[in-house]
Amino acid sequence: MGDSANKILVVGQGGREHALADALHRSSSAPELLAYPGHAGMADLAPTWPLESAEQLEQQALRDGIKFCVVGPEQYLADGWADRLRGAGIPVWGPGQKSVRLETSKAFAKEFMFRHGIPTGLAQVAHTADELRDLARARPCVLKFDGLAAGKGVAICESDAEVEAFIAEVFEQQRFGAGSVLVEEYLQGPEVSIMTVVSDGAYHCFPAARDYKRQCDGDQGPNTGGMGAVAALDLLDEALLAEIERRLIAPTVAGLVADQMAYRGFLYFGVMLTAQGPKMLEYNCRFGDPEAQAVLPLVEGDFAGFLYQAAQGILEPERIQFASDWSVCVVMATADYPARSGRGQPIQGLDDVATDALVFHAGTQLNEQGEFETNGGRVLAVSARGADRGAAVENAYADLRDIGFDGAQWRSDIGRLHFDAERSAGHDA
Ligand code: AMP
Ligand code: GLY
Repeated sequence: MGDSANKILVVGQGGREHALADALHRSSSAPELLAYPGHAGMADLAPTWPLESAEQLEQQALRDGIKFCVVGPEQYLADGWADRLRGAGIPVWGPGQKSVRLETSKAFAKEFMFRHGIPTGLAQVAHTADELRDLARARPCVLKFDGLAAGKGVAICESDAEVEAFIAEVFEQQRFGAGSVLVEEYLQGPEVSIMTVVSDGAYHCFPAARDYKRQCDGDQGPNTGGMGAVAALDLLDEALLAEIERRLIAPTVAGLVADQMAYRGFLYFGVMLTAQGPKMLEYNCRFGDPEAQAVLPLVEGDFAGFLYQAAQGILEPERIQFASDWSVCVVMATADYPARSGRGQPIQGLDDVATDALVFHAGTQLNEQGEFETNGGRVLAVSARGADRGAAVENAYADLRDIGFDGAQWRSDIGRLHFDAERSAGHDA
């Protein structure tokens, strides 16, 4: 089989995994794809692979001739799937449990950054409510539950009442389980997400991206899993990108080697561009969602072969290229998201969108009539490319207008807010 994987299992079932399947499918090596658990929306690219049990994973993968496994969500990595499959001799894209602590423990990640001289906000760990009250005297202060909380364990508190509400949620109701809290310095500036491929001591960066986490236009309303994203090689200027690489990315990759944390997978750098220079907010040991739905449509070449080789410690950036276009993805969510998820609303227009439109499914399912209906809060991500940012925004919203379901909501400023026009008008972050 040489240097390509002809049968690849994609693990996960979100919009990110649909975008991963799409990029793998477009690879010049044209691999066969399967998905676990996958979903009907991506089944034409990657049919669902029925897994009998996690315990049988290795035998079944070997029996079905799976040559390579690409893991999307952090939970599978945290549960040790990458270690298990690697142990069975199957190359895997995604780090093992030891290294995934960079994402699963914010205290561990902070210590890693301090140890390796990587700029980030100062922080201390509170183990009890009283310790937290004592440490969290600044306003605003940033409180982070020290564990996986599906993006919901972070609060930026302006008042004592907000600090008390976080204490009640985390220490009293134990909404995210038992655990401590990181009390962090508040940082200001626009945010940017840099996704990288890391293979042992080497790395390669994808085009920079920005996601829009709040529910409503103007960054108003509650935090969500992400309402859209924009990506382009030109999103950041070269000097700033070089500074991010020099101060954040290169020392992180060197730190992984120094700490003997084996790493072959995507590594996501959540960065705040402060007046004092770029500072790390967080690491994720996976691709961002919805950043994937904006970044991956820009990838050309042999993406599958690139990841397969990198999973074996051979980083060959020349196997892929990035289009010079801009790319925008807009998330369509159900009416009460993020408070509640909706299901059962028929989705119209999926067959009417332009042939080059990219519609990634996240919360959809087939109903008894074989039509797609809603099945979750974030339903679809509509992505489009354009020669410049304005064109990409226009194309994404034009495609989105063809699709509808009862109560659908989306932001109308994806790819617009936090760029030059807003900055000069004084509205920027
Ligand atoms: P995290 O999960 O650590 O990335 O935090 C989620 C979001 O909270 C980030 O994307 C930021 O918007 C915000 N945030 C996290 N840490 C800070 C900080 N130290 N200062 C200001 N905002 C922050
Ligand atoms: N878009 C942020 C994340 O994937 O964590």
